[in-house]
Amino acid sequence: MSLLPILRFPDVRLKKIAAPVINIDDGIRKLVADMAETMYEAPGIGLAATQVDVHKQVVVIDISEEKNDLRVFINPRLENCTGAQTGEEGCLSVPGIYDKVERAERVTVHYLDLDGKTQRLDAEGLLAVCIQHELDHLNGKVFVDHLSQLKQTRIKSKLAKQARVTA
Ligand code: NI
Repeated sequence: MSLLPILRFPDVRLKKIAAPVINIDDGIRKLVADMAETMYEAPGIGLAATQVDVHKQVVVIDISEEKNDLRVFINPRLENCTGAQTGEEGCLSVPGIYDKVERAERVTVHYLDLDGKTQRLDAEGLLAVCIQHELDHLNGKVFVDHLSQLKQTRIKSKLAKQARVTA
């Protein structure tokens, strides 16, 4: 396994739309293993392939305290998004920035697992937020896209300053 570099907002590659996975082959299995390692190392609770500059519909999530409940979603599709919840979100592609985003409270997601089997998961609360956040990435969206233009401008200048300091 290897750690993958994570794209940082406002990198234009974060806007690419991910393509469906056709074959779950060794390349996809390696991608999933590398994405999981990268997410745990960061540390984060979710990572979309888009964030590591691979534009395929692959997401890994682990919201457990013990970091022993890896969930892999291939070609995920949301349906039955109901209710509303607002929580503070962050993103490995937007380091150090947190802000409130409104999301559905409950979602159903259909996807393929690593064996290529069709799966269905009903999620609520934090897991539902995380699924919506990661699926946004596959559609070229970052959580700051949900914020006002003013906030987006502030975030861009803050990140640009950080990049100069750490470069
Ligand atoms: Ni993110």
